[in-house]
Amino acid sequence: MDQLRFDGRVAVVTGAGGGLGKAYALLLGSRGAKVVVNDLGGARDGVGKSNFADAVVQEIKDKGGVAVADYNNVIEGEKIIKTAIDNFGRIDILINNAGILRDKSFTKMSDQDWDLIQAVHLKGAYKTTHAAWEYFRKQKFGRVIMTSSNAGLFGNFGQANYSAAKLGLVGFANTLALEGAKYNIKVNTIVPTAASRLTEDILPPDMFEAMKPELIAPVVAYMSHESFQESGAIIDSTLGYASKAHLVRSQGTPLKNKPSDPVTIESVQENWSKVVDMKGAEHLDKIADVTIDLVQKLQDFEERSKLDAENESYWSTYNYDSKDLTLYALGVGASVVNPSDLKFLYESHESFSALPTYFILAGMCMESPLVAKSMPPGKHADFTNILHGEQFIEFVGDFPGTEGEFTTRTYVADVLDKGSSAVSVVNSEIYQNKQLVARTQQHIFVLGQGGFGGPRNSKHSVDVQPAPKRAPDAVVEQQTAEDQAALYRLSGDLNPLHIDPNVATVSGHPRPILHGLASLGFSARHVLSKYGGNESSNVKSLKARFVKPVLPGQTLVTEMWLDGKRVNFQTKVKETGNIVIAGAYIDFKNIVSGGAPSAAAAPAPSGSALKSDALFAKIKEEVDKNKEMAKSVGGVFLYNITENGKTVKSWTLDLKTPVIYEGTPKSGKADTTMTVGDNDLVEIASGTLSPQVAYLKGKLKIAGNIMLAQKLGPLLKSPAKI
Ligand code: NAI
Repeated sequence: MDQLRFDGRVAVVTGAGGGLGKAYALLLGSRGAKVVVNDLGGARDGVGKSNFADAVVQEIKDKGGVAVADYNNVIEGEKIIKTAIDNFGRIDILINNAGILRDKSFTKMSDQDWDLIQAVHLKGAYKTTHAAWEYFRKQKFGRVIMTSSNAGLFGNFGQANYSAAKLGLVGFANTLALEGAKYNIKVNTIVPTAASRLTEDILPPDMFEAMKPELIAPVVAYMSHESFQESGAIIDSTLGYASKAHLVRSQGTPLKNKPSDPVTIESVQENWSKVVDMKGAEHLDKIADVTIDLVQKLQDFEERSKLDAENESYWSTYNYDSKDLTLYALGVGASVVNPSDLKFLYESHESFSALPTYFILAGMCMESPLVAKSMPPGKHADFTNILHGEQFIEFVGDFPGTEGEFTTRTYVADVLDKGSSAVSVVNSEIYQNKQLVARTQQHIFVLGQGGFGGPRNSKHSVDVQPAPKRAPDAVVEQQTAEDQAALYRLSGDLNPLHIDPNVATVSGHPRPILHGLASLGFSARHVLSKYGGNESSNVKSLKARFVKPVLPGQTLVTEMWLDGKRVNFQTKVKETGNIVIAGAYIDFKNIVSGGAPSAAAAPAPSGSALKSDALFAKIKEEVDKNKEMAKSVGGVFLYNITENGKTVKSWTLDLKTPVIYEGTPKSGKADTTMTVGDNDLVEIASGTLSPQVAYLKGKLKIAGNIMLAQKLGPLLKSPAKI
């Protein structure tokens, strides 16, 4: 690795007669910088004068470097900068390091103790930096280091004066970083911990030995180098270790329940735990973000409040990625033994997608207080008396992709009186990027809490549809594994009833039972592959009632009846003949019998312009110019171009003919199909993303003849990298 050099640069290091400053000066001097070694030469408390700096200058010179000593007080910082200009004609690097201590408990602190500390640390750094600033601006280069302290960041007993000055330097650097940005002036802060005369009575002796200033000097030198591009950073370093510190802000909360409520001392008290909850705290880079972020949060609060006014809601967020989807798919019986399941198990599969039932999880309400709150007077709901009775999900707009974050609003639409039990009808709206993507509905049975004179039915309730009387049109059987519930619970429902034999016994089961939603996931998979073309986005909605529990290891039998675009289904346990899921159905956009490729899976005709269009135009031009060469490759390649995980356009490179056109192959099948995002394809073509890396990261999916795809490269030079 090449040495980072400072040739031609002039560095001022204040307080460089000893300790940390000396280490900085020696290192910079040894790497080609001309150094002004400033030091007043006072004692630890700033009293007196001596010529420490001469010895440091001599040491730099002895090693072949260039340096001059400067004995000015940093309070007259302009004189130190003048030394640099007078001797070397310029200033590039300024390390504000000089410092003293006047430690006193606050009670005993005098004005003089306070003023002197502010003067040396804060005013001193101001004076030197201010004098250097014009030079930096004119030459469009400057590197400034402020020296703060953990006493400033965290506080330290007996150092009120010093802590104030040291944190003041951080604020100073923050603003200078902004003002200097245009002129390539980088202003950063070091928080050192090192053995020096300032710490000899603070650090334990063995630690003192180890904490050499020389271990921090390379960090400060790197932060002073022209290659260093950060600005406004606070870097903590000691013992050859470095880390970055910054301020974070909690997510916070509006200080009222409804936008129209007043903010009072009591409402502040009521919300305080949310104000100070640091879960999900964020660092904000710019002062503008700080305000915009709050305005945005308040707008969200107002929008939500409007919805809450209709029904008291519970809001939650839910993150998922490909690992969650594959874990879920395994939990509901997808298996590599079954090739059509691979698209739900392998994140690099060209059609990798979520199972539709996965998104039911985003609307689960069992942990929310809503059901309990919805009970009429005298009735109650808690974990011991609620049962998940029915489930519905409906997809709205685009089918969700393979990773993302949902915001879910859950509310009780109605409470029904079914005689012995009450039923809470709980609706969820699942939003992604503020767009509604799915709605779910759960019927939560609250055992023994009926008889309150409420309605039996609700216009809000989506009802089950009993299975036809005739024999089923299709039946799929699949045995669950003994560990099925143990696996499924990792998708989020950790209720011990599904794993702990004691809890199962107490609840009246011979052993832990399978989750109702796991059995439903099995059956929905069966129906999807039988009639839905195995294409999740082909599902419009699904409804099911849970009737009886299933024990892991039992065999599920899904019976299906076709009725227009609806497939009615019910699920039995083979070993007992019990119906476990009843009155269920899936409504499809299109019926695709027997697992054949779905019409819904075909790429939507786009017509809209994509970035990759230009690449294909270029390829077409090349191929037209050089037909013989194209023919020598000879395959038919299909490119499916995706945006947000969905295919939006296809291109066929038929190099047999040869001809390039938009759309899927007009005759026959592609030898090689490549599925890739529009942006990723442009990156691959421009060489910023290697095709191998894209393939390994699942950004480029290749099906069919991979070897043939590799022959594309030499043929078409730059565009052919795709
Ligand atoms: P040090 O006492 O060895 O070095 C400070 C130097 O600054 C001394 O040589 C002193 O003569 C000089 N100086 C003091 N007042 C001056 C003035 N008005 N004008 C010009 N020079 C003056 O101490 P050390 O530890 O090397 O400290 C360097 C800097 O690092 C200081 O700003 C200190 O506050 C800071 N620091 C040090 C820590 C440590 O663990 N050593 C911890 C946190 C911060």
